[in-house]
Amino acid sequence: MIRVLFVCLGNICRSPTAHGVMLKKVEALGLSGEIQVDSAGTAAYHVGEKPDARATQTAAKRGYDLSALRARQAVAEDFGTFDYVLAMDNENLANLQAICPPGSQTQPQLFLSFARRFRESEVPDPYYGGASGFEHVLDLVEDACDGLLADIENRQNKQNRSGDA
Ligand code: 4NP
Repeated sequence: MIRVLFVCLGNICRSPTAHGVMLKKVEALGLSGEIQVDSAGTAAYHVGEKPDARATQTAAKRGYDLSALRARQAVAEDFGTFDYVLAMDNENLANLQAICPPGSQTQPQLFLSFARRFRESEVPDPYYGGASGFEHVLDLVEDACDGLLADIENRQNKQNRSGDA
């Protein structure tokens, strides 16, 4: 099992969008039994809340269902659970680095390091902006999820080869 955690500030806009997109892509590939997906926020402001209605509506237009997701805060124990802890921006990354236990095998990294079409390194916070911000989040997230799936496949292939040796 490979476990992926998407992290933003509030866990109501960017990381639930990534969570919903990744879930659908994993299901479409028939990999639900092999890849587990979750999301969290570095802040506790919105714990227990549903994703922002703008994020939910923008995702729904592209066929992604965010309605069952609820916000939670990222914790140090997540580094023991997840293989990938993926930050939406540099501030999220710094906050995750601050709670990552010393010597942890899993280190936080920028989610857009897996993007292939887009050159940006951060998923911009859409919370205080207009609808186009949410569309752009989805464009970036879809691209980086495809790159992430390719990375997971590479990782599995390497593990399988080393298991054969
Ligand atoms: P997110 O967006 O980090 O993508 O979930 C935000 C949500 C809430 C706030 C900021 C960003 N806020 O300040 O409440």
